[in-house]
Amino acid sequence: MAAPVRALTRCRFASTTGLWKAVNHEARRSNHTNSSGKETHFGFQTVSEEEKGEKVYRVFENVAEKYDVMNDSMSLGIHRLWKDWLVRHMNPIPGTKLLDVAGGTGDIAFRFVNYIRAQKEKMIRQKLKAQQTLSWSEISKTYQEQEMGSLGASQAVICDINKEMLKVGRQKLLKLGYSEGLSWVAGNAEELPFADDTFDVYTIAFGIRNVTHIDQALEEAYRVLKPGGRFLCLEFSHVDNPLLARVYDLYSFQVIPVLGEVIAGDWKSYQYLVESIRRFPPQEEFKSMIEDAGFFKVNYHNLTSGVVAVHSGFKL
Ligand SMILES: C[S@@+](CC[C@H](N)C(=O)[O-])C[C@H]1O[C@@H](n2cnc3c(N)ncnc32)[C@H](O)[C@@H]1O
Repeated sequence: MAAPVRALTRCRFASTTGLWKAVNHEARRSNHTNSSGKETHFGFQTVSEEEKGEKVYRVFENVAEKYDVMNDSMSLGIHRLWKDWLVRHMNPIPGTKLLDVAGGTGDIAFRFVNYIRAQKEKMIRQKLKAQQTLSWSEISKTYQEQEMGSLGASQAVICDINKEMLKVGRQKLLKLGYSEGLSWVAGNAEELPFADDTFDVYTIAFGIRNVTHIDQALEEAYRVLKPGGRFLCLEFSHVDNPLLARVYDLYSFQVIPVLGEVIAGDWKSYQYLVESIRRFPPQEEFKSMIEDAGFFKVNYHNLTSGVVAVHSGFKL
């Protein structure tokens, strides 16, 4: 399904608070019929598929401003280590084109930019070290030519359905001094506004469990990746240590909604967060879903005893 023009149009008109509705309305008119009268889950509630999309949209619209602070508070900063792990595991090289879906406030994209810059600098240093007899002016010229710290052809596209999350992300990264090589696109993981075979890497961090049709999002990931491209998903998963599982459950249900109320004034959104984690398929089941979408060499790594897992697969 290569329909970049139609999809980009859909992306641009989505400017009101009902962005999810607009995206979904357009999707209904297209061949991908999202509103089927079928039921699904929103946390522990049973809702219609259309209602789920609207509710998820509202959750992230409500939490956008406090999203980063809440992430640090709820996870005691550990989400940073998980995201660092994901990007180290990706090990991107200069020139990589990344699509970060459900990219929210840009945490994966700015780690990607940092990693690429560090890689580029390392390559320049190695090149210079190999040439022992260079003069100072030659060294200086090499640094200027190679634009130390620049991204070169590398690019990260942050795509998210929620314009409030994108707005907060854009402001955050501008404040941190990131602009080169980044672009922000409003779009639905189930119907991405990009042409076939476009990206080297597709990431989705803590996003896929919020998507109504996970199978459709996986098919879209496959479509937009170049042959040889890599799919990487960081998501809450199922804890493999019974003692930790018990403590984690207590913490999730007794502490997280309270933190949500105290810090963000929003109990319900954080209740949804913990419920949605419990509804997400276990590691092996999710692995099979990724294989069903056509990916090869699918595997996963549990982090923090399976509190989260990183699934990886390749489009061959
Ligand atoms: C928990 S946040 C994760 C944000 C970011 N990836 C991170 O790790 O901090 C989930 C994100 O998924 C987005 N999202 C939910 N459903 C989506 C969909 N169908 N398509 C694209 N993004 C979606 C939300 O708007 C939200 O920004």
